[in-house]
Amino acid sequence: MNNFAQRITRTRPAATFAMAARARALREAGQSVISLAIGEPDLPTPDHVIEAAHAAAQAGQTKYPPVTGTPALRAAVARKFARDQGLGVAPEDVLIGNGGKQIIFDAVMALIEAGDEVIIPTPCWAGYLQVVDFAGGVPIFVPCPAASGFQLDANALAAAITPRSKLLLLNFPNNPSGAVANIDMLHDIAAILRKAPHVRVIADDIYEHLVFEGAYHALAAIAPDLADRIVTLSGVSKSYAMTGWRLGFATGPRDWLRAMALVQGTATAGVSTISQAAAIAALDGPQDLLAERRAIYRRRRDLVVTGLAGATGVDCPVPQGAFYAFPAITGWLGRRSAAGRLLVNDDDVAEALLDEALVATVPGSAFGMTGHIRLSTATADAVLEEACQRIVAFSASLSDEAQ
Ligand SMILES: Cc1ncc(COP(=O)(O)O)c(C=O)c1O
Repeated sequence: MNNFAQRITRTRPAATFAMAARARALREAGQSVISLAIGEPDLPTPDHVIEAAHAAAQAGQTKYPPVTGTPALRAAVARKFARDQGLGVAPEDVLIGNGGKQIIFDAVMALIEAGDEVIIPTPCWAGYLQVVDFAGGVPIFVPCPAASGFQLDANALAAAITPRSKLLLLNFPNNPSGAVANIDMLHDIAAILRKAPHVRVIADDIYEHLVFEGAYHALAAIAPDLADRIVTLSGVSKSYAMTGWRLGFATGPRDWLRAMALVQGTATAGVSTISQAAAIAALDGPQDLLAERRAIYRRRRDLVVTGLAGATGVDCPVPQGAFYAFPAITGWLGRRSAAGRLLVNDDDVAEALLDEALVATVPGSAFGMTGHIRLSTATADAVLEEACQRIVAFSASLSDEAQ
């Protein structure tokens, strides 16, 4: 019997996790698979953060929290938004969620009804496609091709807006392209939004501390007159290597935050008190580790871009931020792998790379841009070097002969 809600038939599991699961299965079967499928820092959660969590548990911070977050963490996040985003917000204007992912779910579910249009510049994080489908929204894609540095073209954005547009999903630094919004582009986006007062924005700034080229700017700080339509979100997962603690946060207009809290309170009784205590230590503690870790990710980015330069048919733009590489592999399409597989599209490429080169990547199709694959660079240098060597060897083994 299949009498599940329609939203279930519309919803698909995240391709990134599916690929990681396949890599894990191959590894358990004894293959030496390198998984670059998931965007997860290999670096540890800082010791002082773990100690703060331990102390909180021992001090009895083990009861239900308020749905919107503990007052102490909301105050720490308000300080953080002032420090890093230049946004002056009160603790009451902060919502704590189970990761940036829940914040996005809250914001979309609070706003989007069946048929509402959601503008998504692509490539985009696969999670956006999931949640918009789940809500019954209609994704309107605005391609940001590699040839334009994956930057969002203002004219293309303006052309995508219709009377049914309700939401624009922005993500800089971008997963998977690494694009960082330059300030002119943010001003252009703001100008377009001023002419479209019916469009709200989620500014997903989860990679805010991972900018290698250019500088990070928060849209709501650049365009304070639009702040009543912008939810700015970030979290501790990527910056402080705390993916498993499940903690994200947002600020934005009170009406939207209140609606988001309602969604969140329907789904969960708030966020783990232990994780909230840990997040306070991360946000209020020493921030030097952000620059130290940024330098590590930058070195790894360079290592992968250099390593892939030796692979024929691959064009790897230099990511400006985040911890992914998003090379074009169009030079491989139409060719055959050593095992005889015809590479018709990026899905075939990711399959062949996993099965034959034992490197797990994610096809660009999962991020709304075919012809690319995504590699996470958040792993040890030696592992990345080995992965690049395998990819170079794979590229050298492709043949043109029909079989
Ligand atoms: C662009 C983007 N937004 C949000 C998230 C969610 O992060 P988390 O739920 O771990 O805070 C991710 C994670 O991969 C991401 O890449």
